[in-house]
Amino acid sequence: MSLQDKVAVITGGGRNIGAGISHLFSQNGAKLAIFDLDLGRATAQAEALREDGAEAIGIAGSVTRTPDIQNMVERVVNEWGHIDILVNCAAISDRQGILDLPDETWREVLEVTLTGPFLCSKYVAQQMVKQGTGGAIVNFSSTSAYGGGNRRIAYNAAKGGIISLTQSMAAQLAPHGIRVNAIAPGPTGDQVGGAILASDRGAHNLLNQHTMPEDQARVVLFLVSDESRHIIGQTIRVDAGGGVM
Ligand SMILES: NC(=O)c1ccc[n+]([C@@H]2O[C@H](COP(=O)([O-])OP(=O)(O)OC[C@H]3O[C@@H](n4cnc5c(N)ncnc54)[C@H](O)[C@@H]3O)[C@@H](O)[C@H]2O)c1
Repeated sequence: MSLQDKVAVITGGGRNIGAGISHLFSQNGAKLAIFDLDLGRATAQAEALREDGAEAIGIAGSVTRTPDIQNMVERVVNEWGHIDILVNCAAISDRQGILDLPDETWREVLEVTLTGPFLCSKYVAQQMVKQGTGGAIVNFSSTSAYGGGNRRIAYNAAKGGIISLTQSMAAQLAPHGIRVNAIAPGPTGDQVGGAILASDRGAHNLLNQHTMPEDQARVVLFLVSDESRHIIGQTIRVDAGGGVM
C-alpha cells in the first residue's frame, strides 16, 4: 500500500506502537513527523527513520497544548508543504479505581487521552481543509473501552469517548474528503507508559501470541490507504480475538 509523497503526523510516535507505525509508513514511502512530549524520543525516532532512508522530523510538544499543536502544524507545512495523514497515538493511563483515583489524575488522563486527539485533529483537519485534497485520520481507542474492570477508570472512559469522537469527526470531516476511523488494540508490545515490557505480558487471545506494534501498524496502514476508502467512522478491534474468548 503506497503512501508515496504522503506526509504523516504520528502523535506519541516516540516509542512502542507509534514508533512501529512510523517505521511501516516510512517503508511505504511516507514522510514522517514524530510529535511527542519527550524531545529525546521524538528526535531519536526521527533519526532512526532517516537512517533507514526516510524523510522524518521529530517535534517536541504536548497534544494538550494548542500552541504546541499549532507550532507542529506550521513546522510540518514549512518542511513539506502539506499534511495528509494524522495518527492520534499519544495517551496516558491511570492505575486505580473510582474509590481511590485522585481527581487531578482523572483530569490529566482525560486531557491527554481524549482532549489531545480532539485538539490535534482540529488543527490538522483545518490545515487539510485549507489544502483541499482530503486526508485520513486514525484515532486510538482500546479494548479497555468495552470491558470495565477494576484496574483503571479514566483511561477506559477516555477510550470509550474516542469511539464517539471518531464517529462525529467522520461525519463532520467526510464532506472535506477527510476519512476518520479508529482502532481498538488489545494488549500490544509494552504496556502504555512502558512500566511492563512486552516480554513480561501474557498472550490472552485466540492466537496465544502477544500482539506487537507492527500488528497494529499494518491495520493503521490499511485505514489510511485507499484500500479502505469505503470504511468511515469505524473502530476496529485489533486484539487477536481477545474480546471473544
Ligand atoms: N500498549 C498497549 O497495550 C495498548 C493497548 C490498547 C491501546 N493502546 C493505545 O495505543 C496507543 C499507543 O500506546 P503505546 O503503548 O505505544 O503508548 P506508550 O506509552 O508506549 O507511548 C506513548 C507515547 O506518547 C507520548 N506522550 C505522552 N503524553 C503525551 C502528550 N501529552 N503529548 C504528546 N505525546 C505524549 C509518550 O512520550 C510516549 O512516547 C495509545 O493511544 C494507547 O492508549 C495501547
